[in-house]
Amino acid sequence: MIVLGIETSCDETATAIVRDDRTILAEAVLSQIEAHAPYGGVVPEIAARAHLDNLDGLVTRVLDEAGVGFADLDGVAATAGPGLIGGLLVGSTMGKAIAMVHDKPFVAANHLEGHALTARLTDGVDFPYLLLLVSGGHCQFVSVEDVGRYRRLGATIDDAVGEAFDKTAKMVGLGYPGGPQVEAAARAGDPRRFDLPRPMRGRPGCDFSFSGLKTAVRRRIEALPGGRPAPQDVADLCASFQAAVADSLTDRCRNALAMFREAHPQGGPLVVAGGVAANAFLRERLAAVAAQSGTPLIAPPLRLCTDNAVMIAWAGVERLRLGLHDGLDFAPVPRWPLDSLGGA
Ligand code: KG4
Ligand code: ZN
Repeated sequence: MIVLGIETSCDETATAIVRDDRTILAEAVLSQIEAHAPYGGVVPEIAARAHLDNLDGLVTRVLDEAGVGFADLDGVAATAGPGLIGGLLVGSTMGKAIAMVHDKPFVAANHLEGHALTARLTDGVDFPYLLLLVSGGHCQFVSVEDVGRYRRLGATIDDAVGEAFDKTAKMVGLGYPGGPQVEAAARAGDPRRFDLPRPMRGRPGCDFSFSGLKTAVRRRIEALPGGRPAPQDVADLCASFQAAVADSLTDRCRNALAMFREAHPQGGPLVVAGGVAANAFLRERLAAVAAQSGTPLIAPPLRLCTDNAVMIAWAGVERLRLGLHDGLDFAPVPRWPLDSLGGA
């Protein structure tokens, strides 16, 4: 089975062709970071136009690279939510048009399901497993029980962790997106210089909170001479912020692992996904917590942690081989929580 995947939910235009034996035949990602950088964040209208300009070419490129034609496809999967509606419309309309013209089944893919199932493609992981999804828009623990069967154990009550990285970067004068720059700056910093709160630490459950931490960073900056951080201050702020995030995540993770074990005594690995999972420091700390409870940590390769179409094509494979697909009248949904999805 060969599936074309299309991802346009945020600021990456991406296409991929994946086979059901877990082979990635071709993949392409076009980041719009430069188009949005002057605004310090993603501008929906600019994103939608860029998807429109580039998607056609990216579909052709992966077909050529994989050496397959439309006729060889067994289905088309396009992200239909959650995300920015303009981009979702561009990608899902393209997916539906290809499916209709070439008479192939269409899968309206959930972006979060794409992140959630990636480890099955990259590492052949079996159900169930505990997923920590950490990105710019999402921050949650999910018990992944089957295709379409997800139980949310905890989530952020305010900001997503990637958002906190991006806002911290902006406050200390680093560019967008902030995560990679904060991680790089933190390497030269002292994580003990600034005393920052560890949000939610010690509380029952596995919810997150990051807005208080963000405010605390702002106060520390305001207290600096002249209210502006010098280069060493930036490094120390980033290191202190990252250490606080790590302490908060690992504390929450301990509880999530216990909750998961209670429902699944036979266990299952901890899988991290989403852009923040690219952070090597956080991965190391999470691996240590997982190891303490005898749980392996599985982290897909970086390029498959951030937004991509391989995960969308793979979600299509997982659904199509269960006989699941969607009508061409499926309307994109900006908000589409994982635990509202259906499966077989
Ligand atoms: O999954 P993703 O590509 O897009 C969605 O939000 O869906 O995640 C992007 C987020 C951004 O907030 C970015 O700052 C963060 O992931 N990120 C990182 C790192 N690389 C990307 N955060 C911390 N450390 C990193 N190395
Ligand atoms: Zn994402």
